[in-house]
Amino acid sequence: MEIFHISAECYPVAKVGGLADVVGALPKYQKTAGHDLRVVVPCYDTKFRNENEFECVHWGTVKLGNFNFPFSVLKESSNKLGYELYLIEINELFNRPNVYGYEDDIERFLSFQIAVLDWILARNQIPDVINCHDHHTGLIPFLLQFAFKYKNLQHVKTVITIHNGLYQGWFGFDKLYYLPEFDLRHVGFLEWNNCINSLAVGVKCANAVTTVSPSYLNEINYAANGLESLFNSVRKKSRGILNGIDIEVWNPLHDHMISENYSIENFEFGKQKNKEKLCGQFDLDPSKPLFSFIGRLFEEKGGDLLPQASAQALSEHFGNINILILGSGNSEIESKLTQLRNDYKGNYNVFIGYNEELAHLIYAGSDYILMPSRVEPCGLNQMYAMRYGTIPIVRRTGGLRDTVIDFGDNGNGVCHDQASAADICYSINRAVKLYEDKVSFNTVLKRGMAADHSWERVCQEYIEIYNLIIQQNEI
Ligand code: GLC
Repeated sequence: MEIFHISAECYPVAKVGGLADVVGALPKYQKTAGHDLRVVVPCYDTKFRNENEFECVHWGTVKLGNFNFPFSVLKESSNKLGYELYLIEINELFNRPNVYGYEDDIERFLSFQIAVLDWILARNQIPDVINCHDHHTGLIPFLLQFAFKYKNLQHVKTVITIHNGLYQGWFGFDKLYYLPEFDLRHVGFLEWNNCINSLAVGVKCANAVTTVSPSYLNEINYAANGLESLFNSVRKKSRGILNGIDIEVWNPLHDHMISENYSIENFEFGKQKNKEKLCGQFDLDPSKPLFSFIGRLFEEKGGDLLPQASAQALSEHFGNINILILGSGNSEIESKLTQLRNDYKGNYNVFIGYNEELAHLIYAGSDYILMPSRVEPCGLNQMYAMRYGTIPIVRRTGGLRDTVIDFGDNGNGVCHDQASAADICYSINRAVKLYEDKVSFNTVLKRGMAADHSWERVCQEYIEIYNLIIQQNEI
């Protein structure tokens, strides 16, 4: 089966969040399962682009209303990622350091989608399935079916995978003329709340919709930033598939980014060494439990609760716990977190920014990872943490609910229900007690380390859906 994954992010080419990790890994495992895999992402000005060899396999011009953007399709020459990687080079729109956050993001991702389809049309092979990811690729299922110029691709099956339903890629109908000409009888597919809503378009037009965890699929029926009723109406063609993690990249036994390698057999020694290194680097006390947070500092991730929760927990357990935060995002949250440094010197620190290498060391050297998310479609950090013997403390939502069970129920983590500083502190108190009981602590930790979150298990579920839609069966 020939499968295309089309996405705005792919690790290690360009990463903002978990979307990149999934698009970087899932195709590798689908390829190993015997399929023909191609991943297509925009060509940003990133390290990966500049340090690898590419060959140009196609070029053309994207027409966006009155604008014309020349583009090239670059294929990574060595297939080093385990599948064929293609970058869509549209210099005027993508030769910039960041993935998102520009005023012309709508024009950028529309051009990307059109360029991808122009190229696929020009190839002499028709793919079996195109798996789109998030709103940046949401118009593809519509364009394939209804744009006149893609008539030859009309029967290609499409899946849209929702990694985050909060972001939807809205734009006004004044930009309708950007789209390639299509059969106007179908214009209704584009509309949601008087706007063109890219995510809604993908959900309406794709042959199947997947979310990145089963619980998130349930949640978007009542909380999806205005798309609740739409998700309800497409329930029949929807499936929640829990993400896997790339257990080759995330393996404490072979990870070059940590200071001491270890496995479930010798984790006590290994984790202690990493903790000492990490605590040395951030002026923390390695003899006390270390609670860490890694992620984007936004409300969605509960980032706004961290300053208050940290201050409260550090005061209650004065000198007896450490908190370390790695992340960036909302500047108000960033500055509140930075200020706390003055009050809890020696037990608290923060690194504003993102650093992949440091993230690995934090997973290896921490005792607990905090994930107080308001919304978490899947969440990968709790799975990385467990693989590194770090116990997750989570709010029960989305994929966190599906992967973490409270230690009180013989589980692998610490759970609470409310997105509040009080609930986080309550969990931290329970975690401190658990830490003092080494036997129980290690039992919980080992349950996490032993769990199988690999893609091998999961990638078959995607293939099953592809097969069903190809045979035109209901999923
Ligand atoms: C998004 C979601 C996160 C999920 C990731 C990968 O970043 O917020 O929960 O794990 O996508 O699917």
